[in-house]
Amino acid sequence: MTIVPESVEKYASQYSSPEPEVLKRLNRDTHAKVLRPRMLSGHLQGRVLSFISRMVKPSRILEIGTYTGYSAICLAEGLCEGGLLHTIDHNPELEEFAGKYIDQAGLSGVIIQHTGEAVDILPGLDEVFDLVFIDADKENYIRYFDMAYSRTRPGGVIIADNVLWSGKVVDVTATDDRDALAIAGFNEYIRKHPGINNILLPFRDGLMLIEKTRA
Ligand SMILES: C[S@@+](CC[C@H](N)C(=O)[O-])C[C@H]1O[C@@H](n2cnc3c(N)ncnc32)[C@H](O)[C@@H]1O
Repeated sequence: MTIVPESVEKYASQYSSPEPEVLKRLNRDTHAKVLRPRMLSGHLQGRVLSFISRMVKPSRILEIGTYTGYSAICLAEGLCEGGLLHTIDHNPELEEFAGKYIDQAGLSGVIIQHTGEAVDILPGLDEVFDLVFIDADKENYIRYFDMAYSRTRPGGVIIADNVLWSGKVVDVTATDDRDALAIAGFNEYIRKHPGINNILLPFRDGLMLIEKTRA
């Protein structure tokens, strides 16, 4: 799930802020005990998320796709005083695991875990978000974007992960990969969407950075 050669990514990691100890433990523990550990953001992407969050200084963050809590902890690093992060995952088996590390990071008071389908939970969140991270089932990306967009303040930032889908989105004419097709559709949707400023960053598996420019 990386476009950049591994050796280059390793070099970039060495010249970026180190992975905090609690995230190192979470990273190791996820690889040892949880299925599909490649889903975890990891050191470099985690630092990117933390960096963006520190720039936005959000009061409210929404994350769709908690997994083991790695990206939630990174995003929460930028929260301003009194800020909250809502994170959603439909896998109840991950709740306790993620909760343990959120607690160890000292963030149990600011990260609120929701377990269930994102489309069911999102309408019940009465918040205006400054920062959103979409990192769940690819087939619903457009839906998640629309739901997030209407709840994001003008000037707020929405980030979507895996928008290059290992490069498969470049030519989807001959693919039957449903996720690649869904992501290609999402990228096209964003390209035509009014009221945004965006960049598709060819980093790791592709990050779409979207600023909401209109009310
Ligand atoms: C790629 S992982 C998230 C990784 C995490 N954001 C990180 O960077 O460490 C995707 C997560 O989305 C969750 N998910 C998938 N479909 C979902 C849905 N319909 N509603 C809520 N969560 C969903 C999965 O259970 C999985 O844990």
